[in-house]
Amino acid sequence: MATTAAEAKAKAATSTALVEAAKKKAAFAAVAEHFTSTMRFVGIGSGSTIVYGVEAIKAHLAAHPPPQGHINWFVPTGWNSRKVIEAAGLTPIAFDSLPADAQLEVAFDGADEVDDELNCIKGGGACLFQEKLVACRSKKFVCIADYRKNQQRLLTNWPTIPIEVAPIAYASVIRELVALGSVKPILREHTLSKTGPVQTDQSFYIIDAPFKQLLTAGDVKQGKDGSGKDGVWEVETLARRIKAINGVLEVGLFCGLNGIQAQAAGLLGGQKPV
Ligand code: 5RP
Repeated sequence: MATTAAEAKAKAATSTALVEAAKKKAAFAAVAEHFTSTMRFVGIGSGSTIVYGVEAIKAHLAAHPPPQGHINWFVPTGWNSRKVIEAAGLTPIAFDSLPADAQLEVAFDGADEVDDELNCIKGGGACLFQEKLVACRSKKFVCIADYRKNQQRLLTNWPTIPIEVAPIAYASVIRELVALGSVKPILREHTLSKTGPVQTDQSFYIIDAPFKQLLTAGDVKQGKDGSGKDGVWEVETLARRIKAINGVLEVGLFCGLNGIQAQAAGLLGGQKPV
């Protein structure tokens, strides 16, 4: 029987509600496990999932207030992230205002896709550079990812790797990405408003580069060739190669080589509510 427009609309609304419930569940679980009110510096990532993370932190602080005089400082990863921190009544501190010896106890963030070894694709919201800066200054990186993001290998459901580039170099970076085997890397543009390229908080551009599904270090240990032959790469090898291209500020692959140890990361895949 054909689905009516009203039925299709109702189905879409249910599925959106399920996804939002899963994001919230993952965020509250992450905060319960990895946040304490005695922490001094905490990183806050970008995107829609982290909004629930901040909500969970706020609830945790209300239930477990910090000791008298203690300030929890929250380090944003961009303009929107700062707004989310401020809207929750939490205290932001800019990355470049951190005391020289300060290390963040934990950084919470979302992801576009996460593999079995906790390597992530990030940058769907164009904030990858500051996200990595903050993550790399943290003792622990906690990636809040609902059931949709959790895949055995990267580039399974999420089709491209976001790469932040200097505007003047975007065309030459695209050529280099093609040489690495990316079939059709594209400059991210505001397609609806037609106002030109998307600009990051650094006023840089984003290139979205499709590659074949990425191998993990475990795959390579088992003898698979992730050297880029036939366009098949192991995730850390490709991250290093892209980062080395002239004009690239940061690559949206978060893995061990980028300073984030997989074993220190916490992946919380909220289960699909049934
Ligand atoms: C922004 C990011 C986000 O963390 C990522 O895109 C996930 O976003 P969402 O929680 O909305 O799915 O990397 O650049």
